[in-house]
Formats: sequence, structure tokens, C-alpha cells
Amino acid sequence: MEELLAIRARGLTKSFGDVTALDDTDLDVAQGRIHGLVGPNGAGKTTLLGLLLGLAVADSGHLEILGAPVGRALDAPDGVAGFVDGPALYPSLTPRQNLAALAALRGPDAPVAGIDDVLAEVGLTDVADDRTRGFSLGMRQRLGLAAALLTKPRLLVLDEPANGLDPAGKKHVHGVLNRLAAQGTAVVLSSHHMDDLAALCSEVTILAVGRVVFTGPLSKLATENRELDYRLVTPDPQTARRLADEAPGVQVVDAEGVRQDAEPLVVRALLPALDALVVRLVEKGVALRELTPVVSPLEAAFLALTEQQEDGR
Ligand SMILES: Nc1ncnc2c1ncn2[C@@H]1O[C@H](COP(=O)(O)OP(=O)(O)OP(=O)(O)O)[C@@H](O)[C@H]1O
Ligand SMILES: [Mg+2]
Repeated sequence: MEELLAIRARGLTKSFGDVTALDDTDLDVAQGRIHGLVGPNGAGKTTLLGLLLGLAVADSGHLEILGAPVGRALDAPDGVAGFVDGPALYPSLTPRQNLAALAALRGPDAPVAGIDDVLAEVGLTDVADDRTRGFSLGMRQRLGLAAALLTKPRLLVLDEPANGLDPAGKKHVHGVLNRLAAQGTAVVLSSHHMDDLAALCSEVTILAVGRVVFTGPLSKLATENRELDYRLVTPDPQTARRLADEAPGVQVVDAEGVRQDAEPLVVRALLPALDALVVRLVEKGVALRELTPVVSPLEAAFLALTEQQEDGR
């Protein structure tokens, strides 16, 4: 069965004067997915998220949100909520009043979740009646998320929602997003934190200077076609090093100034060669305590793909 798409974008282009912020960008996000958007500063992430929220209109291309084509009018498509560049709030009002004002603005017929429910969901119950002026960045982000949840969105669009969140807040927000996705809501979020994205998203789009350089499942980034550096920890580093030196397709790499026999052992290889080395180690009686990529596959792909693009600029 074909998956229902929450977002179907084809050839989106958007310029500001002579800056091309988005250049022929495609994006597919199925309902119930959490999709990460990454890219260097100025890559076009906020611009793309703004188009999804109806804050701006593309110069050309075709955009369908929740099955309906987006027209030329500046208008939030039905069923979409979120924010770019931080949430907009009334600083003189409390979280509860901010949410009540937003609910009232949406009119009596719009679907609205319970204010207490969404405040509890984002962990703001204790400060629900404090003025938002003076709220920390993390608290404003949580309130922005509560405002988006209020509209019971089927597509949630968040620009760097983890900014300012402490580790517990991040975990909390991840829980909220996972629950929403399990109920069928699509979530698109941008972030500069690869570890967070890798933990939360099953698929990502990497943008570089307005162009998509990768889109697809995260697992695809980790596979055969990229050499990565891996840290190898064994109880017998000398034998491990000798076997790694002999292994075809495996390079022992050392950080500058590190002694040749120093721990940890770092090897550079494609996955098949790495697999063969692991089998060989075990055959020779060398146990494996740890085998981890030195940088995450997402980060390695990000650096490789975005650097190529910047060089070709
Ligand atoms: N309203 C605007 N007016 C003029 N130029 C703009 C405007 N919005 C974006 N741009 C330009 O478009 C390009 C893409 O910007 P955008 O904000 O989408 O990048 P980003 O990927 O969100 O970056 P960051 O990681 O820094 O948030 C940049 O060159 C930016 O200067
Ligand atoms: Mg941005």
C-alpha cells in the first residue's frame, strides 16, 4: 500500500534578492514519520520550514500538504502547526492565557485540545500562571510546542525545537514527538544536533546551499559506501593492531602525535572489510569490547556531503 504523504514537495525554489535560499528542492514525508532536516547555517532549512507553514510562498515548484495543493495565498495549510525562528508569544500573558488567546483566534469550529492537557504534555503545569516574560529559551520552546499541540496538528513543523532545552527537557520533548508520530502525525524538525536527530528520526534530508544532497532513511547513511573511522577496544590491543594492519581494506589511523601502540586503536574501513576484521579477531581469540564509529554516520555523511557542495559553489 502506498503511504499517505503529509508533505510532497517538487522543485521548490525560493530566492531573496540574488540569494537562492532553495534551489529545486524535493521533499516527501509520510504521515506518522519524524523527519530531520539538517544543513550548515544558511542552507535553507528555515526557508523550507516557512514554506510548509505557509509563512512564505515558493517562487516556483509544487507543494502539497496533507494531500491538498498549497496555493499562492499566505495562509497556514489546514492541519499544520509549528514555528520557525522561535515561537511567537505574548510576554505579558501567562502560558495559560497565551494558549487561551490562540484557541480563541482559531475560532469556535477549529479543533482545539485541552489547555491543561497540552501544558502537562510539555511539562509547564507548574508555571502555567506565571508571566512568560522572563521565561528561559527552553521554557519558551516548550510553550511554543504546547501552542502547536493545541491545534491537534496532523503535520508538526519545528525549527530547532531542542535549542535551549536541558537533557531532561529534550527527553521529554522527544517523548511527546514520538507519541504524536505513533498517532499518525508527521513531524519535520531541523536541528544542528546530530545525536538528537539520530535518536529521534528514522529519516533525514541534508540540505547544502539550498540543494538536497541526501534524503532517505538514516540507515542508508551508515551502509557500505562510506569509509568511517571506528574505535576498537580489545583486551589484547597489540594482536588487534597486528591483525588490523594485515587486514585487506583496513587502514590503521592514528591521531597526530599519538604513539603507534597507543590505545584506542582506530581503523578506517568500509563495512564489509570491518566485518571481516571482526571475524578474524574473534577467530584469533581476541575478544571485542567496543566497536564504535568515531563520529556518527549521520555526522560523517553531513560533513562529507555538505563540504563537497560548498567546494563546488
Ligand atoms: N527574509 C530573508 N531575506 C533575505 N535573505 C534571506 C531571508 N531569509 C533567508 N534568507 C537567506 O536565505 C538563505 C537561507 O537561509 P535560512 O534561514 O533558510 O537558512 P538555515 O538553513 O535555516 O540556516 P541556520 O542554520 O543558520 O538557521 C541564507 O543565505 C539567508 O541569508
Ligand atoms: Mg534556520
